[in-house]
Amino acid sequence: MTTLNNIDNNAPIAFFDSGIGGLTVLNKVKAILPNENFLYYGDTLHMPYGEKTKEQLLEYSDNIFKFFESKGVKAVVMACNTTSSVIYEDVKDKYNFKLYPIVQSVSKILADLDVRTLGIFATRATIESNAYQNEIAKYNKNMKVVGQYCPNWVHFVEENSMGFAENQQIIREDLEKMLQHNPDKIVLGCTHYPFLTGVLSQFASENIFIDPAVDFANFIKSDLAANSLLSTDDSPAEEFYVSSNPELFKSSAKMFYEVKELPQLLTF
Ligand code: DGL
Repeated sequence: MTTLNNIDNNAPIAFFDSGIGGLTVLNKVKAILPNENFLYYGDTLHMPYGEKTKEQLLEYSDNIFKFFESKGVKAVVMACNTTSSVIYEDVKDKYNFKLYPIVQSVSKILADLDVRTLGIFATRATIESNAYQNEIAKYNKNMKVVGQYCPNWVHFVEENSMGFAENQQIIREDLEKMLQHNPDKIVLGCTHYPFLTGVLSQFASENIFIDPAVDFANFIKSDLAANSLLSTDDSPAEEFYVSSNPELFKSSAKMFYEVKELPQLLTF
């Protein structure tokens, strides 16, 4: 971790993801940190991140992180499982803010679960990186971790098309493939997937699914508190930016999060 200079407690916490997925994390963080100012960048132009190379993800995130530095943010939440899995080690010491990666932050909690087999639904890049398996194995070598990627799910969420019968059939088939491994729990290891909980719960018990954002939000709160970085702002604000199609972002987000103003368009 770099030494942080002149951090203002009331400075915003920034979130970034490839689209609306990070709102599932922002939602949880906002619920337990009501005095924080938030800034959100959805890189909708480059979505899906799960199909991108490490070099591409490094390039996109460098532009976004430099923008966050220019806004003087105190912390950046790598809500995106894909970037946390693929590039966190490369970027963790480069910027002047605290950096919270979702996968590394929740793995100890997952490793402590009383389960024999843990399923992970995530993007192709997250699964191929083996990040969840490697991080969990640091704390628990006995847990069997089974990863499976679901290439269509991010699109279903961004396009708000998960209600279509043919898309629900694809989700059901992906789930049945995972259930063949008899997982005790299944982590929704992509920020977009909690939007699909309603569909998934038609085909399996809702309590088999774990949204890691809950533990991640608690982790962020404890760490900010431990570093005396909690905001005391009585009227905090939120700013949203996207790299394409602000209207689609606002309307698809609606089922999960009320984005009051149309996001600003900002492309690098
Ligand atoms: N929502 C992101 C994640 O948590 C990436 C989804 C994508 O754009 O492929 O992995």
